[in-house]
Amino acid sequence: MGSIRIRISLFFFGLITLGIKNSSAQTIPIETSNTAMVLQVGTHKELHMVYFGKRLHNSDEYDLVGGQYHQGTDYSGMADAAYTPSGSQNLFEPAISVSHADGNNSLDLKFVSYQTKKINEDVALTSLLLKDPIYPFRVTLFYKTYFKENVVEQWSEIQQGEKGNVILHKFASANLYIKGKSFWLTQFHGDWAKEMQPETSELTHGIKTLDSKLGTRADLFQPPVFMVSLDKPSSEDEGDILYGSLEWSGNYRIDLELDNLNNLRLIAGINNYASNYVLEPNKVLTTPKFLYTFSTQGKGLASRQLQTWARDYQLKDGNAGRYTLLNNWETTYFDFNEDKLKSLLSDTKKLGVDLFLLDDGWFGNMYPRDGDRSGLGDWQANVKKLPNGIIAIEKAAEKTGVKFGIWIEPEMVNPKSELYERHPDWVVKQPGRPEHYMRNQLVLDLSNPQVQNFVFNIVDSLLIQNPGLAYIKWDCNSVIFNAYSANEKYQSNFYVDYVQGLYNVLKRIKSKYPNFPMMLCSGGGGRVDYGALQYFTEYWPSDNTDPLERIYIQFAYSYFYPAIASANHVTNWGKQPLKYRIDVAMMGKLGFDIPVEKLNKADLTFCQNAIKAYNGFKDIVWHGNQYRLANPWDNDVAAVMYLNEAKTKGVLFNYLVNNRYDAASHLPIKLKGLDAGKQYKVKEINLYPGTKSTIEDSRDYSGNFLMTVGFNPQVNAGRSSVVLSIMAVK
Ligand code: GLA
Repeated sequence: MGSIRIRISLFFFGLITLGIKNSSAQTIPIETSNTAMVLQVGTHKELHMVYFGKRLHNSDEYDLVGGQYHQGTDYSGMADAAYTPSGSQNLFEPAISVSHADGNNSLDLKFVSYQTKKINEDVALTSLLLKDPIYPFRVTLFYKTYFKENVVEQWSEIQQGEKGNVILHKFASANLYIKGKSFWLTQFHGDWAKEMQPETSELTHGIKTLDSKLGTRADLFQPPVFMVSLDKPSSEDEGDILYGSLEWSGNYRIDLELDNLNNLRLIAGINNYASNYVLEPNKVLTTPKFLYTFSTQGKGLASRQLQTWARDYQLKDGNAGRYTLLNNWETTYFDFNEDKLKSLLSDTKKLGVDLFLLDDGWFGNMYPRDGDRSGLGDWQANVKKLPNGIIAIEKAAEKTGVKFGIWIEPEMVNPKSELYERHPDWVVKQPGRPEHYMRNQLVLDLSNPQVQNFVFNIVDSLLIQNPGLAYIKWDCNSVIFNAYSANEKYQSNFYVDYVQGLYNVLKRIKSKYPNFPMMLCSGGGGRVDYGALQYFTEYWPSDNTDPLERIYIQFAYSYFYPAIASANHVTNWGKQPLKYRIDVAMMGKLGFDIPVEKLNKADLTFCQNAIKAYNGFKDIVWHGNQYRLANPWDNDVAAVMYLNEAKTKGVLFNYLVNNRYDAASHLPIKLKGLDAGKQYKVKEINLYPGTKSTIEDSRDYSGNFLMTVGFNPQVNAGRSSVVLSIMAVK
């Protein structure tokens, strides 16, 4: 039996290698328009990463780069492995670590072949095959390059043809080796309502690990995004900087190791925490993509590269439009009925936004969802609140002339629900241990295909029964406690299988409803990552909608994500004037969550005018290039500008972020990205009714002037937020 299996797997391995071009070249450059990483095959067929940085003009010279660096001793000779195995000669932090079917723990990976396929003008895919010389164990490394955007996605495929299961103790997506004098890490931490707080420090020797073990709401304390500046901390427009992120909506782990040669070893992938992954013979584990971009002109360019890439390649419907909306969450919470919702539909129309979004509380009958303690999982309209069903609201929306959207939290269950009673085995919990809740709820076991079907059907039935439904807000309010699946053959595969199960569902939804708008929400920003964003048109950055807080939060997200994806709602959080709140929410996808009926006449008129103004420039915010002009951490006035591709139309937001005496824009703010030779008109827009701008707009300024001297938006305590339109006149 054993020998048959070996023969099958050898045949299998042979087949896979067919068609792959055996390259005689021992230097393998992987290039984008401005950057390169260079792999080199060593004398014993080990694969090194000898260069990472600015692209060379002459690619023949990549052969020479290896020789320019101090090579270290024989024991540090493998620090730069392109994918570090463990248990053989390499003693550095591994990218992969295994126990073979026979119990042996050693792995060595030798270069076999590589190929590069051009997918289109912009995109190419290089794959490299590595094999263990002794065991039928192979890893294929993938590097997908986006030439124009200077973005790379890197991942691995792991396969084994042994006589039994192989345990993967670590199974990274990517392993980079970066040379530099010093490395400055900017990471982000947070919690509910305090998402995305940056922290910068110089990396010291040893390993710094960024990770998550929360399972579902994985990014609650630390999202999988980071920056590394080389040689010195980068500024907005200067310095060599790498932005990285793992496209994975679950536990991740990013190791940043400063080694004995003072170089940076970066290993990123799924977190191996409680996840000794069991890989059966001839099955393939495809790891999630590690995404990165490199800029030699600081953070601004790195962000624009990622934002452009996201709109063009990753974010669902990234180049389309979006709906402005009115949400009822903070107006009604769980307390509403059909009449109330109909009046909110009229308010939606009155306000002038596109869509009404019905939030939590519309479902559950045996255990009505009148609070967050019951009903989650029972996705039938509550007959008391909605006696004529969701369809009645949808029809009323149609009659009112607005679109209609709905909130769901399909991965979760309240113990007080019919779902929990019917399917206790669908719930993630430890048999024999007390249940532990976050927001009174538990997580459904998406590793189970039946649960995947159930979750898919929640969305599918809503869309079949309510064909006019135009939007879904998908929430996720609990982390995973007591990780255990009644369905899993191998418990230690659960965390990985959960996320793959979630992606199966989201993939099915996307393939049936390709451009359907969906908001990714997780009790705020507990799940903002590029793995999820391929299935969502936008994300909810934070439940904290205090506009002052939001300036910081949105600013930090903007390092990695485009404005079109940022769902910003105007609420009654914070002490700032309505204009300030709206101006901040305009820096992304505008929505409202305020009781419209309580607005006085001037406020209502202002909201209506603001929405009209926003409709006039939203295209620039959504699809233009973003320039951060002044950050809120170091300045009294934060300023962000968006400019269309043709550099003819822009919008510039300025906010006072310091309430101390005399805090104001004392100096002009230098604009960026304009055409130096063009003349521009700068005009204040979105003024509150009855106020007059202090800005003189009768003359024009050259792009050169605006970028060299700048423009003073005249922000002060009396004018705490100022929006300027920038229009080319000649
Ligand atoms: C989460 C979301 C909120 C709202 C509530 C509803 O907390 O972040 O926006 O939808 O759930 O329960």
